[in-house]
Amino acid sequence: MLYPKSHLQWSCFFARLIQRIFQACMLGMISCYPLWVNAQQKLNASTWQQIVHQMTLDEKVHTVVGMGIYLPPAAMEQLRRALHDTSMLHNFHFPPMDTNALKIPEKVPGAAGRTYAHARWGIPSLTFSDGPAGVRINPIRNNDSSHTYYATAFPVATLLASSWDTGCVYAVGQAMGNEVKNYGIDVLLGPGMNIQRNPLCGRNFEYYSEDPVITGQMAAAMVSGIQSNGVGACIKHFACNNQETNRNSIDVIVSERALREIYLRGFEIAVRQAQPWTVMSSYNKINGTYTSERHDLLTTVLRDEWGFQGMVMTDWFGGKDAVAQMQAGNDLLMPGTPLQMQAIEQAVRKGELDTNVLNRNVENVLRLVLKSPTFHHIAYSDHPDLQAHARVARWAATQGMVLLKNQGDALPLSSKIHQVALFGTSAYHLIPGGTGSGTVHAPYTISLAQGLHDAGFKLDTNLQNTYQHYIHAHNPTPKNPMAALFGAPPIPEMPVSAEAIAKAATRNDVAILSIGRESGEGADRHITDDFELSDTEQAIISEVCRAFHAAHKPVIVVLNIGGVIETASWREKPDAILLAWQPGEEGGHAIADVLTGKVNPSGRLAVTFPVKYADEPSAQNFPGTPPEHPEKVVYQEGIYVGYRYFHTFHVPVAYPFGYGLSYTSFQYGKPQLKEGPHAHSWELSVVVTNTGKRAGKEVVQLYIHAPASQLDKPAIELKKFTKTKLLAPGESETLHFVFTPDDLSSFDPERSAWIADAGTYTVYLAKNAEQMIASVQLSLPEAIITEKVHRVLQPQEQIQELHPER
Ligand code: BGC
Repeated sequence: MLYPKSHLQWSCFFARLIQRIFQACMLGMISCYPLWVNAQQKLNASTWQQIVHQMTLDEKVHTVVGMGIYLPPAAMEQLRRALHDTSMLHNFHFPPMDTNALKIPEKVPGAAGRTYAHARWGIPSLTFSDGPAGVRINPIRNNDSSHTYYATAFPVATLLASSWDTGCVYAVGQAMGNEVKNYGIDVLLGPGMNIQRNPLCGRNFEYYSEDPVITGQMAAAMVSGIQSNGVGACIKHFACNNQETNRNSIDVIVSERALREIYLRGFEIAVRQAQPWTVMSSYNKINGTYTSERHDLLTTVLRDEWGFQGMVMTDWFGGKDAVAQMQAGNDLLMPGTPLQMQAIEQAVRKGELDTNVLNRNVENVLRLVLKSPTFHHIAYSDHPDLQAHARVARWAATQGMVLLKNQGDALPLSSKIHQVALFGTSAYHLIPGGTGSGTVHAPYTISLAQGLHDAGFKLDTNLQNTYQHYIHAHNPTPKNPMAALFGAPPIPEMPVSAEAIAKAATRNDVAILSIGRESGEGADRHITDDFELSDTEQAIISEVCRAFHAAHKPVIVVLNIGGVIETASWREKPDAILLAWQPGEEGGHAIADVLTGKVNPSGRLAVTFPVKYADEPSAQNFPGTPPEHPEKVVYQEGIYVGYRYFHTFHVPVAYPFGYGLSYTSFQYGKPQLKEGPHAHSWELSVVVTNTGKRAGKEVVQLYIHAPASQLDKPAIELKKFTKTKLLAPGESETLHFVFTPDDLSSFDPERSAWIADAGTYTVYLAKNAEQMIASVQLSLPEAIITEKVHRVLQPQEQIQELHPER
């Protein structure tokens, strides 16, 4: 040790010593400052920003990382095995959890995740629960079935979008949010709102449409409905989670124009219109970087451009680099792991993560806490009104069913029909929704058989017994309890002999045949025996149609599916086809309501049904390359997704976007155009009259054809839509639509701007993307830059994008 030798050195030594002691005291005071100064300071609207600065690093880290998910070790092992058996394991991640946190009893067993509480600051733990079709929590707690916690299984998002009725979707959101509130949950992890880019995506049922305007409007309505209860919604998965295959690592290579016009647009509409409390970033990468690690996506676009005020959370275990996620503005990492906490803490200590960045994220979490029902001690009953919500589910389901075919007015079923031959396993075992986190533990599911019975029909008992016996033998009673979450394999369709069908044709007045499909999280669908009908299904359709038509009796096909299937090869055979989608727990009643005409179908397709899978614009690029284990997927079709492709490139489809029949007919008056309320705005009005014999609702669709410019444009783009009220025969309604240059603009990546080009725009009033009724023209004398944005999210490689010939 070196001692001071001179007098001067001694005085310097003492000066330094005193300085050190002073520093040490100061540090001690600072570190215990919150303890003694703020012992009573609790979180509230005026203290929260100070609190952020007074929290310890450890507390901050425990604010931006969730508490983990609780699965007893045995269940975890079963889950791993179940996923392994279905080769879905690589689509799920299970890093080690904070075992201490997991000892804290869950407020809502079965909820997807929760945040840490900080008692000394009055910060409670928040609870988040799935999902898009209703609250997903454990229906039974501690093996005690004397009090249950079931939730309503509402119709899936694809069905809701097919209603083209934002009021209907709002009502569903309102009922769903009421269950969130009554079960003591703070945020519902829905709606899902990725674009249905390809029919094989296993989670399409959770998403609305191939079109961003429908997607955005539906999501906004859903968010507003949920949040009207004082609980939060979470729009997910932001963005480009358009497939399940290798969802945790797939790199989506996509142009900025396709992102802005197609994949982000719906989120933008939902954020601007409804301000969801939270956004969930997706698992995948976009142009080389995980979405949860992209500052340009989560901050520049979401917050700076769109004005998002809420909090961003990851998808469960999404992304890799916790520090990059913090920097990107991904405020909360869910469900949260100790490794993430360590990484953030170390990065702050080493100066690699700016404390201000961490503070900003903590602030965003605390702002959510301040809004939450838990923070406000809102009492919850654990007794939502499931009966009232079942009525909402039943009604909503009828609003989104799409009548695809109705030859010879086979539907509604005539009053002479009493005896029904019901075919198809899904007719007796309805598929209410999809599997995975989008599932709901509903108190019951009404099968089509039950629905028809309750509507007064007699079912062929021979068939009924045979099917029930078969279903019992193949019952998907999960051998593995985890199958309840990830879905048991669907019951294979039961073959029925020609003889049995012929006998049924003599005994019954009508044949109703259900085709069912189920899919969900962690896996995409297949072309064979899934998108395409199986040989057994084809054989049953053919044979039933042959035998019943020979007996001059109608055949109705009901499609109980969550995503698009092939219809072109068999649709000529039956008299009527009702697309019932996955209609939720009241599905059987709702289908019967439409078949009997109690409700006149008014659903329209929010997704195109192609003639064959290969016609899909993304078919060549799904699920990516290399085929055995895709690492990247190039969105070569660019903006030409769904009808934007089919109608620009003149590819025939089985059923166009916007398509759907009614039991009545409608007539449109001549559209009237006048100047709108603002500069460069137009108001279009049209009178719609019910010219048929039954009350019904019409969906009015407005598409735009833009003038040619440097940018190529799709032949048509949906811009506005609405549904009439229930119009009695002879009744009319006048509908008004306002167009502004925003509605005319396209995204120009060269100029980083949304631009409404100069020229003449044709607005088509249409029944669907193929059937235009009338048109008007709007003229813009000069181009208008409607919005200048940042140059972001650029692909790192050249994409050979699809363009129409000029
Ligand atoms: C899903 C999310 C869901 C989360 C929590 C993830 O696997 O992708 O949609 O909200 O789990 O259950």
